[in-house]
Amino acid sequence: MYLTDEEKRMLQGERGHIAQLCMQFLVEDCETVGAERLIDLDGTGDFHTPMTSLVTNYQFPIEELRELVDSGATFKIPTFANKSPFPYMSPMHGWKNCGMCPFNEEEYHENSMREEYMELYRRMGMLTTHTCTIYLSSTYVPTMGQHCSWNESSAIPYCNAVLGARTNIDGSFGTCFLGKAAYYDMHITENRYATLRIDSERKIATDMEWDVFGFLSGELSAMDVPAFVNTVKPNTTQLCKLNTALNTGGCVRMYHIPGTTPEARSEEEAFHGRAPKRSIMVTDAMLKEAYDKLNRYTGDAVDMVYVGCPHMNAVELMQLARKLEGKKCRVPMWIMTMPWLYNVAKEMGYLKIFEDAGANLMSGTCPAAMGGLPQGVKRLALDSAKQSYYITGCYPDEPLEVCYGTRDECIDAALTGRWRGQWR
Ligand code: F3S
Repeated sequence: MYLTDEEKRMLQGERGHIAQLCMQFLVEDCETVGAERLIDLDGTGDFHTPMTSLVTNYQFPIEELRELVDSGATFKIPTFANKSPFPYMSPMHGWKNCGMCPFNEEEYHENSMREEYMELYRRMGMLTTHTCTIYLSSTYVPTMGQHCSWNESSAIPYCNAVLGARTNIDGSFGTCFLGKAAYYDMHITENRYATLRIDSERKIATDMEWDVFGFLSGELSAMDVPAFVNTVKPNTTQLCKLNTALNTGGCVRMYHIPGTTPEARSEEEAFHGRAPKRSIMVTDAMLKEAYDKLNRYTGDAVDMVYVGCPHMNAVELMQLARKLEGKKCRVPMWIMTMPWLYNVAKEMGYLKIFEDAGANLMSGTCPAAMGGLPQGVKRLALDSAKQSYYITGCYPDEPLEVCYGTRDECIDAALTGRWRGQWR
């Protein structure tokens, strides 16, 4: 593979041991994916903390990191933390009332907030946004065509398809510290054109339709780049649902919605004037089957409700506050948002409304990331394909029952303790 003189010198250790390890990691990454060179990043980066790289061979002790930080080293590109610090996965807010041990314990929370890697990364310039929807809370997103290195699975298609910036799923300490990544796949224009046409009998329009359609399309897409036709123009909430579900059902790093996403002003442009390699018609029966897959319950009494996967945006919080105002939840309800938005919710009066309703506003994590739910919860209502998929995986021995449906059905379940969701 080709390396610049500067990259060769880094590989030889001229910029110190950590930079050398990062270069070794990037070279191996290039060899693995067949990249012939590295690309200098001009966009943004994100990674799960305190992950130092994606490959354990290239970890380094924290003492070395401390030394590096003391020497004044910084990340080369604007870098964000996309999850609560490992291994704690603690909520940033709302932890006291979450009713789940050890997350509701003062000491556990303090330890998680004082996590040393986080402290060091902050000193290197990391913005500890702690959210899977970094692109909505960071206030700084890459622009069209900028090369990035992101890691959160649901954020990858947002970067490529919605922003028109370019990333593979490779955000790590190494890429953000050196500002370089393997040059392959989504960094290259040719790989970004649609190859699969996914049509739908039903016009995809509601939040839940986008979620279920995204989950199914992820399963159908394999490594193709899909173009979705017969949909309404999605709003921000729906785009987030689509991105989250796509990378739960499958592994979609790029898609087009002709007339909506920036690299597809028309279907012809999405396919770069070529014929699709594959075409699929999504029938109503297929959507219903995907919906059924996300639902696993044997009765209608609900123990708990979770909403906020992906983390709720400001408009969702406002809409939810309106619907809960003056009401009382009969079962525990967790509402998850981004840490920075928690304070906005407080200022807007939504937090008070949620508290009065007996719902718990939290930030920065989610049940799947926390590895489960409060003890005794056997049946959970939720409105996210991704959360449904991952939270059930946290219960291998005693399967958790999940009622999946719309946001309104979840609110109804929180207020009545009953599930009345159905496919419409
Ligand atoms: Fe975010 Fe957890 Fe869902 S990290 S996308 S809320 S599974």
